[in-house]
Amino acid sequence: MSNIESILTETRLFEAPEPIKKRAAINEDTLEQMRAKASKDHVGFWSDLAKEKLIWTKPFTVGLDESNAPHYQWFTDGELNVSYNCIDRHLDDKADKTAIIFEGDTGDVERYTYKELHDQVCRFANTLTAQGVSKGDRVVIYMPMIPQAVIAMQACARIGAIHSVVFGGFSAEALRDRIENAGAKLVITSNTSKRGGKTIPLKSAVDAALEKGCDSVKRVIVYKRTADEVAMQSGRDIDWLEAEAGMSNYHEPVPVNAEDPLFLLYTSGSTGTPKGVQHSSGGYLLNAHLTNEWMFDLKDDDVFWCTADVGWITGHTYVAYGPLSVGATIVMFEGVPTYPDAGRFWQVCQDHAVTVFYTAPTAIRALMKFGADLPNQYDLSKLRLLGTVGEPINPEAWMWYHDVIGRGECPIIDTWWQTETGAHMIAPFPVTALKPGSCTQPLPGIDAAILDEEGNELGRGEGGLLVIKKPWPSMIRTVWNDDDRYKSTYFPLAHQPNYYVVGDSAYQDKDGYFWILGRIDDVLNVSGHRLGTMEIESALVSHPQVAEAAVVGRPHDVKGEAVAAFVVLNIDLPKGDARSALIAELREHVSKEIGPIAKPDDIRFGTNLPKTRSGKIMRRLLRSIAKGEEITQDTSTLEDSTILDQFQQK
Ligand code: WTA
Repeated sequence: MSNIESILTETRLFEAPEPIKKRAAINEDTLEQMRAKASKDHVGFWSDLAKEKLIWTKPFTVGLDESNAPHYQWFTDGELNVSYNCIDRHLDDKADKTAIIFEGDTGDVERYTYKELHDQVCRFANTLTAQGVSKGDRVVIYMPMIPQAVIAMQACARIGAIHSVVFGGFSAEALRDRIENAGAKLVITSNTSKRGGKTIPLKSAVDAALEKGCDSVKRVIVYKRTADEVAMQSGRDIDWLEAEAGMSNYHEPVPVNAEDPLFLLYTSGSTGTPKGVQHSSGGYLLNAHLTNEWMFDLKDDDVFWCTADVGWITGHTYVAYGPLSVGATIVMFEGVPTYPDAGRFWQVCQDHAVTVFYTAPTAIRALMKFGADLPNQYDLSKLRLLGTVGEPINPEAWMWYHDVIGRGECPIIDTWWQTETGAHMIAPFPVTALKPGSCTQPLPGIDAAILDEEGNELGRGEGGLLVIKKPWPSMIRTVWNDDDRYKSTYFPLAHQPNYYVVGDSAYQDKDGYFWILGRIDDVLNVSGHRLGTMEIESALVSHPQVAEAAVVGRPHDVKGEAVAAFVVLNIDLPKGDARSALIAELREHVSKEIGPIAKPDDIRFGTNLPKTRSGKIMRRLLRSIAKGEEITQDTSTLEDSTILDQFQQK
């Protein structure tokens, strides 16, 4: 049975504008050649790029080692230093080029040239060494979105220590779990920070985390971001600036093996506790480097702003490592998109002449609610490319981003990837013709396919399980200290034990374009028809009175699953008959957009969706509400817990 009927009906095609094509380092011909080479010689393709793009202290002779599959290893006998590859390599010709433009929550601005960044990283690398940290030790970084976070990461890379950045919005409990799992020797934090005008007490969360357990931690280095008082525990805590006093501006980078871990990053799975995704040094850096060149076409005159926090993978690959490795100027921003008002992102783009802007659909939708007037007040004419990541982008938000922010002239680079993949996997190049809501095609060297439930490869037009058939350099190496979990989570197919199973469902249209339908568990089966929750959301959001929507399945006697919709309006919630009329109208609207089969059975309203502080919608909670179950899940990561009460009232 074909699933196309239930899949997005988007048909618009946007060719890349001429000026974009002219400027692109990779044009359509080069791209074709790259694809051809990659499919003929997978390992040779990646190995040649690794030789060309990275600087090795010891060249590798082995491209891919499959002897311990599915624990794949790349460039195994090579040695390099990641920090050298991000910073020192630019000192000959770009020492005075701005590496980081930083804007604080309250509008304070700082700039670091590559030379200044080099000196700071070296000083901090010397500091870490003086505190007894050496190659292979784990360091937890729990910092605000300030340059010192990147300096700390780069300094770890310089000495070969393995960092694990924990997002500053995680609680003390979550922080403790991660510190313990990683067995960290040292924690780097900040006294407090300001976000959206609010004070974030980072150091006191570290204190609380270290109260129980965490015996491995010997030192806490505290960067004083604000004038707020901070309690320091003598013998354990040290002030960043005091520790660094007298340290040299030079530190000889420590060569590491290509396979030595660069970092761990904890991420949630569908079950169990967060997993420490372990990334390599050589392979990770290669894809981080390449995708910044390929997807964002970064050149010397670019100013690249990726809004992700360094606590997430996007902040690793598109803030701390990749763009520096290609010698770009990046923007780092400490605040939130809506403070002091919802024009803040556009003000930052204007003031720092941002040319490439990369954010998440949730942010776009949130800002869309405020209309076009705010962005129109700012000069966004320098913008050239707009990126998106994190979830499928509904065509409605895509069009707004494209037309209002991008003047209809900036390609939307919709990048599909995961913490585990390390870097972009399915995404357009700037020259690629675009379809709103599709992440287009796999990168050269990424062998993606779609399988049915029995594991047969599906042709175009059919939805199923997204898998990656061949290893790629920046793939997850293992789950920290848990090889079994690595295998059972990512390589669960008995008949294809070396296929990486993504956990998303997807569909490939007749042109070979990929459409991500959402996590496997978000795909509904209604009366035998497969429906992506995203397409129903997309339909709802295309209604003029809907700002945001999330859809989940709930068990249904007759249909198998029924569709439950959680809706945020951009008008005041109507009462009585008007409310019922609106519900009927929304059901009709979905019916019109997709078909009667997709009509939500329930529609509930709230002033926002339940989201984690990183902006991910907490669907588990919605599923419980949809089923009428008591909420037993952990709601501590929820941004605003009052939302649950609103939705629980029918
Ligand atoms: C989803 C974030 C559709 C997907 C980099 C994936 C996307 C999960 C996209 C990984 C996209 C990410 N289109 N879905 N462009 N990008 N996703 O680990 O479900 O936080 O599996 O990595 O986000 O989330 P993670």
